[in-house]
Amino acid sequence: KKLTIGMIPADGIGREVLPAAQRAIEALGSSIPKPTFVPLLAGFELFTRTGQALPEETVDSLKHECNAAMFGAVSSPSRKVTGYSSPIVALRKKLDLYANVRPVKSVDGTSGRKVDMVIVRENTECLYIKEETQTTTPAGKEARATRLITERASRRIGQMAFEIALNRPNRHLTIVHKSNVLSVTDGLFRETVRAVPKLPEVGGRYDAVTVDEQLVDSMVYRMFREPEVFDVAVAPNMYGDIISDAAAALVGSLGLVPSVNAGDSFVMGEPVHGSAPDIVGKSIANPIAAIRSAAMLLSHLGHHDAAKRIDDAVDSVLREGQVLTPDLGGKSTTEEVTEAVVKRI
Ligand code: NAI
Ligand code: MG
Repeated sequence: KKLTIGMIPADGIGREVLPAAQRAIEALGSSIPKPTFVPLLAGFELFTRTGQALPEETVDSLKHECNAAMFGAVSSPSRKVTGYSSPIVALRKKLDLYANVRPVKSVDGTSGRKVDMVIVRENTECLYIKEETQTTTPAGKEARATRLITERASRRIGQMAFEIALNRPNRHLTIVHKSNVLSVTDGLFRETVRAVPKLPEVGGRYDAVTVDEQLVDSMVYRMFREPEVFDVAVAPNMYGDIISDAAAALVGSLGLVPSVNAGDSFVMGEPVHGSAPDIVGKSIANPIAAIRSAAMLLSHLGHHDAAKRIDDAVDSVLREGQVLTPDLGGKSTTEEVTEAVVKRI
């Protein structure tokens, strides 16, 4: 099967770490089908130059030419910019990449807590539908956001989470929500995920998975107190975003945490971190999150041995602890870490 990977570095350190992911894939040699990399444009910098954050050609290429993609990071401003909308949020919707799967795992020998969990984040709805309004009332401005939770999206993310949990040694799933306050929206999410094992088409397949739940605030608290108790966690979009940055802090750096955006027919690797304007241009961005995202992408396409070779190479670089970027207390550059990983692949 062909391997045509759209490469979308986008903004900031996305451009510094995506080449590392490509080099890791190339280092695998003939153990995978020869990959073709298609450079594609998107991002806020592109928007400021051309007025377009996500050109039609990029979406067309992903839909018709590529069977996978890697995304770097995008710099979405905190203020409202007329005409701009985040290309990553749009891509997840356009390609129906409904799950963002984020494994957070500590490596023996590195600082940070002992963590081995997978966060499964719903990727298409919740507050990310971005339906916001503002009105002016006699008392001042008033802003509202609409939050969408559907049974369909909750069910498919639930199924994905149960499937992932089933294939892990501990077979445990934690549903994260806040249905003590949002009993209608989060209530629907919670009920729907809870009902997945009883679906007729599931046929008892998930009976071996134990299930519990956490309110999102106590989830963060418990992750910091006893992260080792968590296995797989499933959450609506916004909570999933927040708890994964928290989990990244536990393992030592956002620069370590990979993800894939997955749908039924396409997969896009993406480091969990953003464009990191505070370190851009200094050649010190940790490339490991991007490299591991490439491994996840390959694994998703069935190339499990190739993915393992990349992960093993990363693990040994981390364990040896000689070549690390500053976020992990080292003095090495993006290039030096990439080189060390590539050599071990
Ligand atoms: P960020 O993830 O870019 O950075 C948070 C902190 O982690 C910074 O101190 C940064 O230096 C550090 N960091 C992140 N990745 C690193 C790496 N690979 N190596 C070493 N250190 C790393 O989040 P922040 O600063 O809140 O947002 C910056 C921009 O990124 C914003 O415009 C935001 O909208 C965007 N963003 C984009 C995301 C995406 O493309 N999916 C996700 C999160 C934020
Ligand atoms: Mg985030």
